[in-house]
Amino acid sequence: MGAAEVQMFSMMLMLACGTTETPEEPAPTPTPEPVVEEPVVEEAPPADADNSAAVAKFNATCAPCHGETGLGDGAAAAALDPKPASFAEATFWAERDDAHIMKVIKEGGASVGKSPLMAPFANSFENDAEIEAIIAHMKSLQTG
Ligand code: HEC
Repeated sequence: MGAAEVQMFSMMLMLACGTTETPEEPAPTPTPEPVVEEPVVEEAPPADADNSAAVAKFNATCAPCHGETGLGDGAAAAALDPKPASFAEATFWAERDDAHIMKVIKEGGASVGKSPLMAPFANSFENDAEIEAIIAHMKSLQTG
């Protein structure tokens, strides 16, 4: 056999093999039964009953000045003048509404005629709801 013939022969072999081989049919995938999910009726947003995320945030972000109990006695408070007011006092809350508190937290003390040492914290929060949760925690520090 000449070289050309050998080549031809092997090509024919390859072709022959190719045609005799029966490609394996993939097993038919069973059509899944549609899963009918019972709608979950949620009365309230996911429970965070103890407001723990807001407490952690307050302790990390605000407590250095305001103190974990909101008395205005955080580690950094010694250097502050004026000192942060005490969130524990009922009079603090009696004199200020939520809109005011929200504004102070977002835009800083200077936005309501208070000290600029109370910085704007809008960038520390994802949304108003997160700030409202912090305010709820601050109110819970009220002792009388
Ligand atoms: C660098 C220190 C510092 C940090 C941190 C800080 N504050 Fe203050 N904050 C102050 C000072 C000082 C005042 C008092 C301003 C004044 O009375 O003029 C104040 C006042 C306030 C007031 C009262 C404003 C008013 O009407 O009397 C609120 C509410 C408040 N801060 C919320 C927060 C919250 C919430 C955080 C955390 C997200 C926070 N602060 C973080 C220093 C700080």
